Amino acid sequence: MKVAIGSDHAGFHLKEKIKEFLLSKGHEVLDFGTNSEDSTHYPIFARDVALAVQRGEADRGILVCGTGIGMSITANKFKGIRAALCLNEYMARMSRLHNDANVLCLGDRVLGVELALSIVEVWIETPFEGGRHLKRIDLIKEIEKENP
Ligand code: RB5
Repeated sequence: MKVAIGSDHAGFHLKEKIKEFLLSKGHEVLDFGTNSEDSTHYPIFARDVALAVQRGEADRGILVCGTGIGMSITANKFKGIRAALCLNEYMARMSRLHNDANVLCLGDRVLGVELALSIVEVWIETPFEGGRHLKRIDLIKEIEKENP
């Protein structure tokens, strides 16, 4: 899988761990930064990752900031992006099974590294269940059309 990743300064360390983890599992990683702990602004990176997923340049996206909240707010502004802020493996699994989430948002200041990587693993490996959930994704797409 090709995964676009990005973080602000608060998510930099976890983003690096996620990159290492994804590469070790044989995934391709497109790293949109940031590349240090220097203070920056999460919307810059949420935009780049959301656009990569929206344009089909990446299969999925993963965004990290302090809480994951700013990243999820920003990524969900993009048509076709279903960004899920997940605090545990259950949320990660359900965000794939029921919501077909294509962007995962994580909070570096909220999660330990081991839990975060476990969330990433579940989220990457879980397929969309389809069926009755497809109708709900279609309804989201209808709403997007109403809001150009
Ligand atoms: C940065 O201090 C922090 O506000 C940011 O990483 C994020 O948590 C915003 O949602």
